[in-house]
Amino acid sequence: MIFLLGLLCSIWGEPVRGFNFTEDLRFNFTEDLRQLTVGNSSVYIATEENLYQLSHDLTLIYSLTQRGILKSGDQPDKEEFYRDPMKKAWNTTFRVNVLLPFVKNDTLISCGVTGNKLCGFCEVLDLENINKLVYSEHIQVGPQRSSSGSVSFLVDVKKNSGQTETYILTAIKNHRDKTEEDRCGTDLKTINLHNTNQNQSGEIFSWSDQSGDKPGIQTEADVDFVDGFQINSTVYLFSNVASGGETNKVRLIWLQAETSKSDTLKSLRGATLSSSGGEGSRLLASSVVPGGQQVLWSGVFSVDEGGENTELLLFDISPDLSREMNKDPDFYTSVNKPNNPSVRLLNPKVVLLKQNLMSSVLAVRLNNWMVFFIGTADGQLIKLSVDRKYQPSCPQILLRTSGDNKVFPKLQLDPVDQKHLYVPFKNQVQRVPVSNCRTYQNVKDCLSAQDPFCVWCVSEKSCSFKDDCRGSERLSIPDESKQEIVSHRFLKDSTGEMKIIIQSHLTIEKKVQSNFTCDFSTTSTQLCKKQEPKPQYPQCTCILNDPFPPDELDVTIKIKLGSTDLIEQLKMINCSSIHGQPSFHLCQRCIRAGCGWRQNSCSWASDAVSDDGVCANIEFGMNFSEPEIFSVSPSVVSFYGRNQAVLSGRNLRDVTRVRIKTDLDCDPKESPVWNNSGFSLLFHLPEVETTGVVKVCVLLPDESCHGNVEVVYLSSPVCTNIVPSSSWRSGNRRVSLTGTHLDLVEGIAHSHTTQEVVFTTNSSCQPNSFQTLVYETPAAENGRSSSSAVFLKVANRSLECPEKMTYYPDPEFTSFTAVSTGQKSLIFIQKKADDLEMALAELSVWGIKDEKQYPCIVKSKENGDKTETIICEIQGSQNDDFTHVKINYGKETINLQILSLFHKVLLILRLVLIPCVVAELFELYLLRMSLSELNDK
Ligand SMILES: *[C@@H]1O[C@H](CO)[C@@H](O)[C@H](O)[C@H]1NC(C)=O
Ligand SMILES: *[C@@H]1O[C@H](CO)[C@@H](O)[C@H](O)[C@H]1NC(C)=O
Ligand SMILES: *[C@@H]1O[C@H](CO)[C@@H](O)[C@H](O)[C@H]1NC(C)=O
Ligand SMILES: *[C@@H]1O[C@H](CO)[C@@H](O)[C@H](O)[C@H]1NC(C)=O
Ligand SMILES: *[C@@H]1O[C@H](CO)[C@@H](O)[C@H](O)[C@H]1NC(C)=O
Ligand SMILES: *[C@@H]1O[C@H](CO)[C@@H](O)[C@H](O)[C@H]1NC(C)=O
Repeated sequence: MIFLLGLLCSIWGEPVRGFNFTEDLRFNFTEDLRQLTVGNSSVYIATEENLYQLSHDLTLIYSLTQRGILKSGDQPDKEEFYRDPMKKAWNTTFRVNVLLPFVKNDTLISCGVTGNKLCGFCEVLDLENINKLVYSEHIQVGPQRSSSGSVSFLVDVKKNSGQTETYILTAIKNHRDKTEEDRCGTDLKTINLHNTNQNQSGEIFSWSDQSGDKPGIQTEADVDFVDGFQINSTVYLFSNVASGGETNKVRLIWLQAETSKSDTLKSLRGATLSSSGGEGSRLLASSVVPGGQQVLWSGVFSVDEGGENTELLLFDISPDLSREMNKDPDFYTSVNKPNNPSVRLLNPKVVLLKQNLMSSVLAVRLNNWMVFFIGTADGQLIKLSVDRKYQPSCPQILLRTSGDNKVFPKLQLDPVDQKHLYVPFKNQVQRVPVSNCRTYQNVKDCLSAQDPFCVWCVSEKSCSFKDDCRGSERLSIPDESKQEIVSHRFLKDSTGEMKIIIQSHLTIEKKVQSNFTCDFSTTSTQLCKKQEPKPQYPQCTCILNDPFPPDELDVTIKIKLGSTDLIEQLKMINCSSIHGQPSFHLCQRCIRAGCGWRQNSCSWASDAVSDDGVCANIEFGMNFSEPEIFSVSPSVVSFYGRNQAVLSGRNLRDVTRVRIKTDLDCDPKESPVWNNSGFSLLFHLPEVETTGVVKVCVLLPDESCHGNVEVVYLSSPVCTNIVPSSSWRSGNRRVSLTGTHLDLVEGIAHSHTTQEVVFTTNSSCQPNSFQTLVYETPAAENGRSSSSAVFLKVANRSLECPEKMTYYPDPEFTSFTAVSTGQKSLIFIQKKADDLEMALAELSVWGIKDEKQYPCIVKSKENGDKTETIICEIQGSQNDDFTHVKINYGKETINLQILSLFHKVLLILRLVLIPCVVAELFELYLLRMSLSELNDK
């Protein structure tokens, strides 16, 4: 049960650091999701047996069980399905494969299959109340089996009369292997157009044309449809096609939705989409980028067999109307395949993101930005903003679930507020805000986030969605992806005059632009002689007073934009101080510092506009020995990182730092190095946000980074238990600590001491399963502390164990006695009772006689009220005349003197009461003698 709860809980999204998830809403269902669609006022979800109508914030409005009664009548072969919630005798199911809000008609079209024979059934429901049935009919619309591999959507066809008719387009998964018989006798083609109302010829749901023909597009290939939509008069359909013996192709079909059903279907033209995976790559999910002159479309392609390795590609899929219709190699409307088929090859415009396990995508357009929301098969939601030049900015993780909860292919945007996404999982739908603007506290953080959804709302001094800002004065990011919101250049003009030019990269209203000033200050000198020309948005110019200072100078620039102040700090450096072997990286450093790159060296800029592209053309003159990395140890760490990792390789002498890059992080982390021998060096592996593989390279002074070694970041170690959880105060008790990922632990510490302990790991074979660390406890401070917290040290973190270590006084051994049994001697050691629960193995004992030591094997322990007796055995000694015993526990050694005769007898008496020890032992006679001797006293 607990395990089950764990599973149920695991799908709850875990807030990503820095985000406020109070707005995050979810709805769960016990059965698997079949269809999710979002209308203007409600969200509709069809699961295996239920249909739900939810409000946009995912509260339940109506739900109904999609089951009915099988009515066996005159036609025993014909299954009939009625939806009648009043009758309990439900014995047939209705599985929904098509769920379409028909907004123009205020209805929800729901089609699927019923009963065991999976015969078609369609219902038309009231869009505002799914309990109101408008119409139903036994008819096949959409696939007969699962809905995966098939798509359906509404298509508007413009008639010659100027009138527009709406049809349901269904594109049904096709399998060459047609062994599964169709017991319901449908004659649907692969792609069909069905009526949506009674007035269309053939009446509602019919797929015949005016002429009575049943037009459709067919194929002989195995076809899986992935996506489809209509933009203006063009219909786009995407599929994976395997024909003949060929591997998979990703196919696009264009249809012109004009004049009639059959003309629309006959207008078929197509293209093949190419990806880096080449032959065999598959389309997993897609989204059109809405708006714009060109039709841009993004697709998640798997580029390997397993489908793990995925890429998000952007294509221009504007229809090519110049080509002849109906000449496609895979799809055709005529009875026979066309002769001389031909197909166009489309190449992607750009690879937007390479990331494993992408499973879903949704694109939106905002101003000149495109924003892609990407769901992954391991339960993450990633956001990627891309500017009009297709330059992506840093991807962000919007949502992360623990456990591998696959995000299903169709993410949907709230059509009303356009600020929330509906993220479908197997048993849950989450409503997630597209941005968390409010987490940015100041204007700089707000705009540096490069989030096209967020603006700085001047009147409220907060970062918010544009339409949440009541005042008119707003600052937002420009059309282009920029690393910084303010940049600078150090300029020397022809007269030798030095200038600093400040440029802001923002979007603001015209009237605020007139209220623009810059104030330059340094700690010492008056920096600017004058500002000329006068500040003019987006630029201001400071003409320097003095000759350029010999040293670096910190300058503070206060930029006033309307009623907002932006403070920028910059370092003024002499551009010629950036010198060295010309390289791409040196050039970049030069440009970033505000200087200009001319004739392969860095100098004062001569132009106010920085040209980021100038460095791209540099020839790499490499006359040094390139560093190489052989290994990083350890190569598996927890997400807290690792101190003192060792990097070994060759030519490491000039390495200044180690850089750590993750796929999703365009802000790589860097660590300084020390103990650099040229062949190995030490550095800290930094903490990261998510688990996964990172790439490590080494940086040279010119900022070039070399090598590409992987380090795996795993989850953090967890301590669950310590056995025993107590120690004697003198310390060195051997204890076992159990937990997970304990192989990533660097040290163990106790709260009462700075002393580190030495430990060994017992790793079990299975990764991630429980492991054990064995170590010896440190001594109690001044022999006094009574309990001490135990910590696992991982990089700079100390992770506390749930259990504390309790310290008790050291064991007290009071006396001993020895008894010989012929073959061996037994030694009985008296000890005060305590809470240590010492195990036999924790004690070592020797009997001492004539200054010789005889190891005594500890055999058993007997607990009394106030004392304990420890019994050990010396093999091959027939005497009991030991004068001392030596006892060792932890690092303590104790010497004990022989016991008096009285105690010896008492002991023997007790011994009688332990049959197993006695059984093999000495003559009872002797014992009786001793007993009577005692009684006499
Ligand atoms: C999260 O946002 C809500 C409302 O937007 C606010 O009331 C709450 O204080 C925020 N919580 C945190 C931790 O920022
Ligand atoms: C999630 O599903 C479980 C099981 O159906 C249910 O008990 C629980 O109340 C649901 N939680 C929410 C927030 O809907
Ligand atoms: C389904 O229910 C109807 C009416 O109650 C009944 O006549 C029919 O035999 C049932 N069919 C099955 C398969 O149980
Ligand atoms: C909606 O469709 C139904 C069924 O075809 C039809 O009877 C009704 O007139 C339509 N209503 C509107 C508003 O189009
Ligand atoms: C679709 O039609 C609208 C309105 O006529 C037009 O602005 C838009 O550019 C068209 N889109 C495409 C992709 O042709
Ligand atoms: C310029 O900004 C100041 C506040 O910094 C404001 O008082 C003034 O009205 C603004 N002028 C214009 C023309 O917007």
